[in-house]
Amino acid sequence: MKKIFLTLVLAIAIVFKSFADEGMWLPFLLGQQVYNDMVKKGLKLTNEQLYSINKASLKDAIVIFGGGCTGEIVSSEGLIFTNHHCGYDAVASASTVEHNYLRDGFYAANKGQEIPSNLSVQFLLRIEDVTAEVLDSLKGLSGVERTQKQTAVLAAINKRMSDAGQFIETRVSPLFKGNQFLAFVYQRYNDIRLVGVPPESVGKFGGDTDNWEWPRHTGDFSVFRVYTSPDNKAAKYAATNVPMKPKWFLPVSLKPLKDGDFSMIYGYPGSTNRYESSYGVALSTEINNPTLVKLRDVRLKYMFEEMKKDPAIKLQLASSYASIANYWKFYDGETKQLLKYDVFGQKRKVEEKFIAWAKGKPEYESIFAQWNDAYDAWRKYAKHRMYMNEGIMGSPLVAFAGSLIQLENLMVKTGVSQADMKAALDNADKARKGFLESENKLSDQNIVGAIAQMYYNDVPKDQQPVGFFTTLKNNYGSLDDEATYKKFAADMFRNTMILDDAKWAAFIANPETLKLQDDPAFSYAGTFIKNYNSKYAPFYAQFFARNADYGRLYLKGIMEMDPAKAKMMYPDATFTMRVSYGNVKSYNPRDAVHYDYVTTSKGLLEKYVAGDYEFDLPSKQIELLKNKDFGQYIDPTRKDLVIGFITTNDITGGNSGSPVINNKGELIGLAFDGNYEALSHKLAFDKDLNRTICVDIRYVLWCIDKLGGASNIIKELKLMK
Ligand code: ARG
Repeated sequence: MKKIFLTLVLAIAIVFKSFADEGMWLPFLLGQQVYNDMVKKGLKLTNEQLYSINKASLKDAIVIFGGGCTGEIVSSEGLIFTNHHCGYDAVASASTVEHNYLRDGFYAANKGQEIPSNLSVQFLLRIEDVTAEVLDSLKGLSGVERTQKQTAVLAAINKRMSDAGQFIETRVSPLFKGNQFLAFVYQRYNDIRLVGVPPESVGKFGGDTDNWEWPRHTGDFSVFRVYTSPDNKAAKYAATNVPMKPKWFLPVSLKPLKDGDFSMIYGYPGSTNRYESSYGVALSTEINNPTLVKLRDVRLKYMFEEMKKDPAIKLQLASSYASIANYWKFYDGETKQLLKYDVFGQKRKVEEKFIAWAKGKPEYESIFAQWNDAYDAWRKYAKHRMYMNEGIMGSPLVAFAGSLIQLENLMVKTGVSQADMKAALDNADKARKGFLESENKLSDQNIVGAIAQMYYNDVPKDQQPVGFFTTLKNNYGSLDDEATYKKFAADMFRNTMILDDAKWAAFIANPETLKLQDDPAFSYAGTFIKNYNSKYAPFYAQFFARNADYGRLYLKGIMEMDPAKAKMMYPDATFTMRVSYGNVKSYNPRDAVHYDYVTTSKGLLEKYVAGDYEFDLPSKQIELLKNKDFGQYIDPTRKDLVIGFITTNDITGGNSGSPVINNKGELIGLAFDGNYEALSHKLAFDKDLNRTICVDIRYVLWCIDKLGGASNIIKELKLMK
């Protein structure tokens, strides 16, 4: 009896295992099996309501927000909810030291007060399968030849299926590592206005200390609106534009959440690599990640030093600082989790099974031997590449100076027309203005000095630009002495024409090649970039292409090896629309520790530190919370204001701002983060530990209504009680 019971339990466990909460599904290709599982988990909507080709459906409320986030439409007048960190740059740009919306928050009292931005949003119109066309044109190709051809073929399809006049843009996305190609057709709306944002102390509460961690108390939301031409068409900004009339908008739920409740997240996960090879995992943990973290450490340190000193500098650097810090902590955490769970070993096991299966199959049997060779050929240059991307180019001045290589190329070419030359100079002049707006010289100069020394010590000597460090030693002193690099950087910043209006104007008026080439910032950037580009970038291109070839074949083989499983596979994230479903759910992060599925205002007050850089709060908020003034947003079971919650949904960067939706299609929160214990999620999903961190929609509304006094926004919403 006992035995039978046990096997039964086991059988059930196995069925459920194949339906773990892992999966970023294409909503239009859900498949009956996946849909049925959603229903089993509690979904009350029909497949047609999730995604319909002909009728308006839930997917019409979901947008790509800005360049790399998700947003959702929440009213019949084009109101958008997204994350605070997604609107961050727009808010910082709209702010001045006198009108500091980033610090103090902002709510438009009426539509006339909404603030235009440089943002845009994109709605997904339709999808077309172009696999046959793409694969036909790539037949027989491999390596760099194939990657180049693929880029060209996709660009041609994108162009053919786009219409700039109508703001229609198509982007073909390679799915399953290039075994399938889907064309995603979007409509872009360029008139997006800021409607409201909480003070930064609320929207980024906990700062980088709490980032990527649960329990969390961040009010990570902001509010925007889509504007259209008076006839409801996509249009550039115009004062005469009107609020959009959307096809669909999400109602907002005020109902309490229970552990185990169904949750669904629509959005645009940026990238995952769930079939990364063990070699790739090792390259990340051994070289790429630690190098990136080490270089970002230094950049962040010098930026923060200046931001602390002056609110104007804080505003100037805040957005760039936040994004550098975000993935600094991510990659540090990723390394730790990959090692902790021995993801390398896990991958190795799967690969060994594959290798055994592949024996005697000519298409597959040598993949892993060749893959190993490709990594062996590349590994010795990997650190150098990270030093270029994250170190040398991590200085804004050097990155801008490096961009002038294009201008240099034109200047040394014969037969360039005067008009082309003038256009190039105008461009450089314009780009310089943009660069100067965000340039903080002190932090940048410190970064240049520190990174030059690190490069000298870390990058293999035989890969360093010939003669550079010898000259540095001759002119400035010992290469083991920090002062050498500091003096060198100080001279660069003092003498470059890029930071000197008069010298720059003289150069633009009379552009002499030698003047450019002798400029200390240009010559520094040029020396390192040209060294890398001429000698090592070609190795990377080769490595990249071979990696793509073996990855594509490996995945194709995996699907052939287990056809039943193949039917249940989802493609890696490619910043295309996905739906993930799971549950609101508590978890045990480590032995003897249990994490509840919600956080409340009680915990917010516990974390609060008056005047702190990361844990401060507006005094009005403290007062309201102490008085338990929660209004209709109170959680009846907790008798408190719920701040955040967690779910088992499978998301990643790009999903920021995504709607968290209950079984009836109502908004219950905004996804804004992942938890530390599952930071290896891009390469391996952990079904026990993976959680999505969400801000509860009732806290969002409380902040808008009670703290911000913007009842006009609340009135626009469809509240479900
Ligand atoms: N970790 C969040 C994400 O990638 C971003 C949070 C931004 N906040 C910060 N403290 N840097 O979606």
